Amino acid sequence: MMENLLKNSIKTLIPYTPKEITNVIRLDANENNYGSRLLNQKLTKALMEVNINQYPDTDCTQLRGMLAKGLMVSEEELLIGCGSDQLIVMLLNAFIDKGDKIVTSSPTFSMYKISNQIAGGETIEVPLSQDFEFDYYAFIKAIKKENPKLVFITNPNNPTGGVIPREQIIKIIEHSNAIVVVDEAYHEFYKESVMDLTSYYPNLVVLRTLSKAYGLAGARIGYSVASKELTGLIKRVKPPYNVSSLDQAAARVCLDNKPLFDGIIEEIILQRERLTKELSKLEAVKVYKSFGNFLLVRYGKATELYNYLLEKGIVIRYFGGGGALENCLRISIGTAEENTILLGVLGDYFGIENKGASLKQAVNCVI
Ligand SMILES: Cc1ncc(COP(=O)(O)O)c(C=O)c1O
Repeated sequence: MMENLLKNSIKTLIPYTPKEITNVIRLDANENNYGSRLLNQKLTKALMEVNINQYPDTDCTQLRGMLAKGLMVSEEELLIGCGSDQLIVMLLNAFIDKGDKIVTSSPTFSMYKISNQIAGGETIEVPLSQDFEFDYYAFIKAIKKENPKLVFITNPNNPTGGVIPREQIIKIIEHSNAIVVVDEAYHEFYKESVMDLTSYYPNLVVLRTLSKAYGLAGARIGYSVASKELTGLIKRVKPPYNVSSLDQAAARVCLDNKPLFDGIIEEIILQRERLTKELSKLEAVKVYKSFGNFLLVRYGKATELYNYLLEKGIVIRYFGGGGALENCLRISIGTAEENTILLGVLGDYFGIENKGASLKQAVNCVI
């Protein structure tokens, strides 16, 4: 009955519903499993100093100052969101009227399309190649034909791990009248960035997050960098007090301890290369080159393997049947020990004996 009252655009919406699973090795959400546990004492101290009876600083002044200094941009070019998810919503709320278009590629991070549907916009998806390479010519063609208000590029892309060369991003910005959003959620595992271009292109916005490399997914901190003019436009729809004071304090502790995370990031990259190498030895498994903190693989019996790992206490991401991601599984890069366990379990599944044990020895040298 009440369903009839829903907005039309929501009636067909399939919501993004993260799985709640405990007591397992979680390799399904591209989190940082080294986590911020290492900072627990410092976090506890910082949180105890928060005046929780007061509303938070709506502009995240201190945190924005720290980020601006580290990124060498001005504070007026920075906005902080409750996760970069919220910045995606803010961009859509600011620019998308009913029926307006966004262009993005497919498969990619699903929240652009979901949030756009909620906003009432239309999403034009440009398929990646069969090998999940970015199809630059098709993308440019779509932009010219569809005249979108927003373009979303994910670099590195989730869930494929692939990247788009800087020159192609520049051409996309130059060929479009739209706001071009480059989502660099996984930048730290790739290193290349177009953030420096925000001072040349007033219609470019770069999104980043502390959820991945900085192990702060639970605190929900994302940020955008764009020209002062564009930042001002996005800020018009920023909800007041959108980042809690607890989250702001946690983020400040995190940034104060950046060198610790720099080491963790390098370890995750090493682990990604280790998993890529080991999984590539399995003939039945196709491993896609990844520049993120995850690997996408294709395997004929993906459902069976997913369930086998789940039984053994390891949860990865299965995208379900059908479409471009048919039989694909995404494995987030865990800690060295977790990866050793994963490889051992995979070794058992694929009938390769003692793989886990020999890798465990190798790992002891890496940590
Ligand atoms: C490409 C991409 N952008 C944005 C996000 C959202 O991150 P946040 O935790 O900052 O909302 C994710 C999360 O998985 C992602 O993969």
